[in-house]
Amino acid sequence: MSTDRIDKILAHEGFGTRKDVRKYFRASQVLVNGKVITDPGFHCDIDKDEISVDGEILNIQKNIYLMMNKPQGVVCANKDGLHDTVFSLLDEQYRVGFALENLHLIGRLDIDTEGLLIFTTDGKLTHRLISPKTNCPKKYFVRLEHPVSESEKKEYDDCVSKGIHIPAEDNEDEADCLPAKIEFTDKDDEVFLTIVEGKYHQVKRMFRALDNKVIYLKRVSINELKLDENLATGSYRKMTEEEVALLG
Ligand code: URA
Repeated sequence: MSTDRIDKILAHEGFGTRKDVRKYFRASQVLVNGKVITDPGFHCDIDKDEISVDGEILNIQKNIYLMMNKPQGVVCANKDGLHDTVFSLLDEQYRVGFALENLHLIGRLDIDTEGLLIFTTDGKLTHRLISPKTNCPKKYFVRLEHPVSESEKKEYDDCVSKGIHIPAEDNEDEADCLPAKIEFTDKDDEVFLTIVEGKYHQVKRMFRALDNKVIYLKRVSINELKLDENLATGSYRKMTEEEVALLG
């Protein structure tokens, strides 16, 4: 959730240009949560704050934030001629009107990847999180085809933490990845990998570069937000304000 200047919000809501709306501030007709606001540059959050102008409470469309535990077999696209899309798993209310126009994904997962997927109408949040400058950490649970021996663990750790070179795939060139973090578990074929970018098939290509193969992949967190493990695969729910804040 993010804040905006109140004059910008009023202009957006049809009260005229930012210059036009100054008259409401001069006349002390703008209230935020019951308090008179005279500064047009005052910041507020339409998802949390109640704004009224000349006694009328504004009914501003609130941003939508949904968390899904993506199942395998569905694609992260608006339309696909071949497969069901993650949007087809949403209720009708998220496929009409404002949601239809504005609901989008924050980052995609491959068809065979499960786990944390965020839908939102908050373009600013999405822009912030997917910007390459943000280095937003995404953590994956990975099951590998080949168990990793103790000596290989050291090699994996070195390569991944330095920034590994990944092979070309499909139309994507070979590339250097930013440093990432690998965590080993008590099973030799199961690890957690945290990456801060979102290159095409990045996790799979990273393990291919290590002569291994990903056989199961699940995103478990984005930034500080963890997937709700009580969310059955294929289901979704609205996120709480605290969860949205954890996205950063
Ligand atoms: N890396 C991959 O290889 N696939 C995903 O779905 C996400 C990250």
